[in-house]
Amino acid sequence: MALTRKEFLKLSSLVYKQSGINLHEGKKHLLEARLGKRLRATGISSVRQYLKLIEQDKTELTHFLDAVSTNHTYFFRESRHFECLRPEHVSIWCAACSSGEEPYSVAIDCLEKGFRPAILATDISTKVLKEAQEGIYPIEKAKEVPLNLMKKYFKRGVGKWEGYIKIKQEVREMVTFKRFNLLKGHPPREKFHVIFCRNVLIYFDRSAKERVVNNLYQALKPDGYLIIGGAETLSGINHPYKYIKPSIYQKPSGRY
Ligand SMILES: C[S@@+](CC[C@H](N)C(=O)[O-])C[C@H]1O[C@@H](n2cnc3c(N)ncnc32)[C@H](O)[C@@H]1O
Repeated sequence: MALTRKEFLKLSSLVYKQSGINLHEGKKHLLEARLGKRLRATGISSVRQYLKLIEQDKTELTHFLDAVSTNHTYFFRESRHFECLRPEHVSIWCAACSSGEEPYSVAIDCLEKGFRPAILATDISTKVLKEAQEGIYPIEKAKEVPLNLMKKYFKRGVGKWEGYIKIKQEVREMVTFKRFNLLKGHPPREKFHVIFCRNVLIYFDRSAKERVVNNLYQALKPDGYLIIGGAETLSGINHPYKYIKPSIYQKPSGRY
């Protein structure tokens, strides 16, 4: 499936408008491959027809955004960030949670430290949210989790679930999954002590990034932390946070 320049520009600007994801020229092959999957799934043969469909059909638009987003994640990713989690942090938001490894790792870290926060976990992709909610993963993922924590917080599948691991109920119950588009949605009314927004800003351009982090600021309690990915930075964009250390920013106390 080779896209003409015009088709590429139309699709990439639609993706940008809908999700903030910046598909520059270097991502043309990725877009072609992911679009190809949706064309096969819908039985549509022309890009023009598919564009028409996603303009009219919200469900297919969601499937398309699911297909173009990159969901790579793993348990205990950049776990040094968890050092800032403390018992007074009773509400935590993982704002681009992918298939759940991040919020479940946060939940396990807190349980190990002796507290049980409520964790909201959101993503734009309904496909990954479904996987996250199930909390079932291929057994290969067990190597991402320290052995003592694997034994304590996961179950090994048997019978038809041989080859899978499942998060235990006590961890699953701490996390509520919802769809949320960082660029379009109004942040939840609830205010959070900590917001993880890791490894997603990297896909946004400067203006989208600025909008997202300023919106997240509204959802933080004073003294609350915003944690971004290790490869990301807020330098070069306008924002009101206090820099604490690489990847960690704070809403100054007394600010609402
Ligand atoms: C690379 S994963 C990062 C997952 C996890 N935070 C981590 O660090 O491992 C990026 C996630 O951001 C989500 N995403 C992309 N654009 C988004 C948007 N506009 N709103 C919410 N989530 C978005 C993708 O669906 C994907 O699951």
